[in-house]
Amino acid sequence: MKLGVCYYPEHWPQADWADDARRMAQMGLTWVRIGEFAWSRIEPEPRRFDWDWLDRAVETLAAAGLTIVMCTPTATPPKWLVDAHPDMLAVDAQGRPRGFGSRRHYCFSSEDYRAECARITQAVAARYGRHRAVGAWQTDNEYGCHDTTISYSRNAARRFRTWLAQRYQSIEALNRAWGAVFWSQEYRAFEEIDPPNLTVTEANPSHRLDYNRFASDEVAGFNRLQTDILRRLSPGRDITHNFMGFYTEFDHFAVARDLDVASWDSYPLGFLEQFWFSDAEKLAYLRQGHPDIAAFHHDLYRGCGRGRWWVMEQQPGPVNWARFNPAPLPGVVRTWSWEAFAHGAEVVSYFRWRQAPFGQEQLHAGLNRPDRVEDQGGGEARQVAREIEALGPLAPCRRAPVALVFSYEADWHLKIQPQGHGFDGLRLAFEFYEALRRRGLDVDILPPDADFTGYGLVVCPTLPMLQTATLEALQASGAVVLFGPRTGSRTPEGHIPAELPPGPLQAGLAIKVTRVESLRPGAGPAVAFEGRTFAARLWRETLETALAPRASFTDGGAAWVAQGRLNYLATWPQPELLDAVIETLAREAGVPLTDLAQGVRLRRRDGVTFAFNFAPEPRATPAPPGMGYLMGGEVLPPGGLAAWRQT
Ligand code: GAL
Repeated sequence: MKLGVCYYPEHWPQADWADDARRMAQMGLTWVRIGEFAWSRIEPEPRRFDWDWLDRAVETLAAAGLTIVMCTPTATPPKWLVDAHPDMLAVDAQGRPRGFGSRRHYCFSSEDYRAECARITQAVAARYGRHRAVGAWQTDNEYGCHDTTISYSRNAARRFRTWLAQRYQSIEALNRAWGAVFWSQEYRAFEEIDPPNLTVTEANPSHRLDYNRFASDEVAGFNRLQTDILRRLSPGRDITHNFMGFYTEFDHFAVARDLDVASWDSYPLGFLEQFWFSDAEKLAYLRQGHPDIAAFHHDLYRGCGRGRWWVMEQQPGPVNWARFNPAPLPGVVRTWSWEAFAHGAEVVSYFRWRQAPFGQEQLHAGLNRPDRVEDQGGGEARQVAREIEALGPLAPCRRAPVALVFSYEADWHLKIQPQGHGFDGLRLAFEFYEALRRRGLDVDILPPDADFTGYGLVVCPTLPMLQTATLEALQASGAVVLFGPRTGSRTPEGHIPAELPPGPLQAGLAIKVTRVESLRPGAGPAVAFEGRTFAARLWRETLETALAPRASFTDGGAAWVAQGRLNYLATWPQPELLDAVIETLAREAGVPLTDLAQGVRLRRRDGVTFAFNFAPEPRATPAPPGMGYLMGGEVLPPGGLAAWRQT
């Protein structure tokens, strides 16, 4: 467990670097990430490199004993490069190029830009790849940030056609897969196909799905271009990329396959404010963060990194980019850091060392204020460093008792055909996750092609394109499995399966979905389960089945059925219904649950149980009586934590 910080030597006078480095080390930080936006300083003019300043920065940080995460600077191509290759800009859905003057102004499909990226990656890696202080690499910065995965440029169109030709081999196969006879959309050649934008009404859903898949593959290919170079020129160093939370436009599992370590950027207060949470939740968790937002991503990126993951950017104070930007409660930056370690992080790195007095992020806090005085976050980082020392090392997280399966492709499909306002695959997955965490469960988040051996309970909130191989792996695992609505509702091409949904799942669960409907808030029947009724929400399927329902819609029809260990929900469950379902299934799976007060969460690592309180009021620590605490005590203050060793 190590701490780090993001640092921009190019923002500060050289005379200050040594003091900054000394203070970082003295704060207990051991990693420092540099360089991800520094291209215009590294190569001020085409092919004229200025290494001098960066050499000195590297030496200064190294001299203080810090280990460096060196970044490729490809998220911010300089002006001269854009002017030389105007075609490298991404193009938005309205056909407008996205201009210079902020960042991420490039299209993943520009071959000119890919060549430039290979060139600068090669140059930076040749210079620092074997430097004793360079311990890891970060490729680019937050792929996809600011809506930059999907581009409608000419380059993207051209490469999309090649991608389609490889995938389908013949135009007839593509026409069949897309159902292109519908509305006379048939093509005679791959060259005729355009990206699915600027159509009069919605574009063909299979066309759109393939465009998502193509765009995701473009990100993976772009990243691989860099990792191949880094592996060659910087042997033995870990390579990571800092992924962005609540962002699904490319497949993070796929990109992470080329990395040694997954990392993500955790801004608990910014995310709470920016996403779908109710006003009541936004107020209740205003300064502590939502109980499950950071944890969900910790568990997701542990899955992406096959066990190895970092927080590359940890919120240190108020940010500048959400609708409202409150300050964290005193102590919460410390709690977030420990939450990450409890979920298995190897490193927590704060963004950023010092608040910048210029540029777009002037109002974004750092560990230090612009006047060089340590800010609240700095003091808390210092405290975490001391506590890590006191606690000693913890082994990586073991397999959790429960897995949650998340599919990026499912999310793309549901964005294309939500069928009801608010049917969002990520949100559905998040709500299942919340239900598991409310009962104190440790959760692994895995892709559909994972190995499920050893899990007691596996939940698949929705897998529209369920593959037979996934079903077989789930059955072979012996786990109790819960499938959410719309599972098995589409073939890989995006068609309704010939045997009707849930498609291949019918091999294990004798149901047929004969009708679906989406419901506006307040409409719809209730769901009856064990003498209680729960309002149905958003989605209702009509099942044809001889199986006895476990829960039913009050106006008739099964809402929850099971056959053997396989369970299926025919609605988007309200939290209370989901709690009841999880409680029942965990009991059947022999997975122990814990009763937790509202806002309290648990996570276990290497025999230590951590408890976190995200509620705005103090809570009793849910530890067995007479526990010797490693951190905290019997009362968890708002935004506080406790830890004890489980005997
Ligand atoms: C991240 C990004 C950083 C910085 C930060 C501000 O999205 O990677 O460069 O902009 O947000 O919170």
